[in-house]
Amino acid sequence: MCGIVGILGTQPVAGNLVDALKRLEYRGYDSAGVSTVENGVLGRCRARGKLRNLQSRLEEMPLKGHAGIGHTRWATHGAPTETNAHPHMTDKVAVVHNGIIENFKSLRERLEKAGAHFETETDTEVIVHLISQALEAGAAPETAVQSALKELEGAFAIAIIFGGHDDLMIGARRGSPLAIGYGDREMYLGSDAIALAPFTDRVCYLEDGDCVTLTRTSVAIKDENGHPVDRKISQSQASAMLVDKGNHRHFMAKEIHEQPEVISHTLAHYVDLSRNRVEIPDFNIDFATLPRITISACGTAYYAGLVAKYWFERYARLPVEIDVASEMRYREAPMQPGGLALFISQSGETADTLATLRYCREQKQHIASVVNVRESTIARESDAILPTLAGPEIGVASTKAFTCQLTVLACLAIRAGCERGHISSDQEMELVGQLLEIPRHISRILHDEKLFEKIAHDLAHSRDVLYLGRGSSYPIALEGALKLKEISYIHAEGYAAGELKHGPIALIDEDVPVVVVAPRDELFDKTVSNMEEVAARGGQILLITDDGEAADSFSTASNFILPKAHSFTNPLLFAVPVQLLAYHTAVFMGTDVDQPRNLAKSVTVE
Ligand code: M6R
Repeated sequence: MCGIVGILGTQPVAGNLVDALKRLEYRGYDSAGVSTVENGVLGRCRARGKLRNLQSRLEEMPLKGHAGIGHTRWATHGAPTETNAHPHMTDKVAVVHNGIIENFKSLRERLEKAGAHFETETDTEVIVHLISQALEAGAAPETAVQSALKELEGAFAIAIIFGGHDDLMIGARRGSPLAIGYGDREMYLGSDAIALAPFTDRVCYLEDGDCVTLTRTSVAIKDENGHPVDRKISQSQASAMLVDKGNHRHFMAKEIHEQPEVISHTLAHYVDLSRNRVEIPDFNIDFATLPRITISACGTAYYAGLVAKYWFERYARLPVEIDVASEMRYREAPMQPGGLALFISQSGETADTLATLRYCREQKQHIASVVNVRESTIARESDAILPTLAGPEIGVASTKAFTCQLTVLACLAIRAGCERGHISSDQEMELVGQLLEIPRHISRILHDEKLFEKIAHDLAHSRDVLYLGRGSSYPIALEGALKLKEISYIHAEGYAAGELKHGPIALIDEDVPVVVVAPRDELFDKTVSNMEEVAARGGQILLITDDGEAADSFSTASNFILPKAHSFTNPLLFAVPVQLLAYHTAVFMGTDVDQPRNLAKSVTVE
């Protein structure tokens, strides 16, 4: 998943391309590059690593063209070197690409036999040579692109400019998102509306299979069959402001601290505050007759879904099937028509989640999605959108989006419980009241942040860390382990506490810290038994609980004592300490907290 942008402008565009790429850097930051066409001649500037490297290069060797394309890369095929950085080009054409060309090997062999000289290890370069060959054979740019597109297999979005054409840009999408921005005698292409927000708020999302030919004053879209089509232009809500870190050192810290506020905003959207009742806007599912819910998502969003499984099953007696989207999309799971398929995604662009959504649509499921980016592909392809009001999440490690997803899912579970007759009116008021307390409780945890800093210093010296939890704390243990490994690069695993003795206990010795997520609920004593098993083997325990007395009686553990809340809302609360532990460990280790190695914020390839 990479970020692509294109501008047909009235001034030199390199600076604006870089500005747009800054807004797309969440999609990848292995390398970046821009290419412009000036008096018919293509020029290019690329740099390995973050965008600031490209910016310095451009200061040394400016590009002056008024038409150009840009790219920020998350490497799939080929190492993250400057040579493999996009745009890829010949003297006839320059291409930026997001996605994967699955049949690139066979295409490359064929093109090489025909005399094409490849410079990179990327799959993208085949597109360049396919188009160049067609141009050499005398095809017009649009025809050359159309013939290349017919050869490509896989998911992609591309933007192309041409030598000899200062007023022409072509874009195409299959699987990966691409939007057109309409300016004043200027035209734009971008992976999302956020990239285009500084230039225009008039945006049109291309449909799968579309190919668009742009000049500064014209837009011609053809669908997958080559038929001219009109696509709706909408007013984008994406903000032109580049979100900043405020007084925080990292976006992740800012986003952790925003949680009380954004959870309140999210609750205000789903709760009638005058009556403490859940009201889900624009959601017409009848939970009373629903046989089951299928939930699918990836990474942290999947763990939010796993918490929801505990909630739906316990509080609404509603069976839940849940799987990571990368598995579910290929499982060919049989589904009873008319069921509810629920997808969870911060970005709304995750390729596996989107593919599973499409599979579930084929299986005649009603599609609902919990998304943070309302203009995303997943949102647009859903029958019902359940927005999280987390605001832009920039840090690659998801924090506030996760707790907002939990907030929405908790409201949904309450509504399901009410409609199915398992939550009475009084219980609904009680549970909603408990949810409304969460922002205050989280503020208290954040107030004690220094405690986490201290423990994180010890954690930073570990090679492996285990996280344990039971019931709805089990997904929080998984989330804690994911957070730690993705930003600190320390190996961490989350386990259901009861599973410990079935294998993982063999890992325990005095060098392996075990973080135990254990609110004082009906499963607490069971988890304490598992802690005893760890202690007996010399393991160091870090107990996160809400019962100070119980924690004190367990003398060998370091403890974090959280405010006492309802067992229903505990996952929201216990998510915060595991975020803080991971954050401070990573800061102590000096890793790139907001843009950890090898990762990207939005995973638009499978
Ligand atoms: O945008 P999505 O919520 O669909 O993203 C899903 C995962 O890629 C994401 O949660 C990932 O696991 C995060 N880096 C975790 O912090």
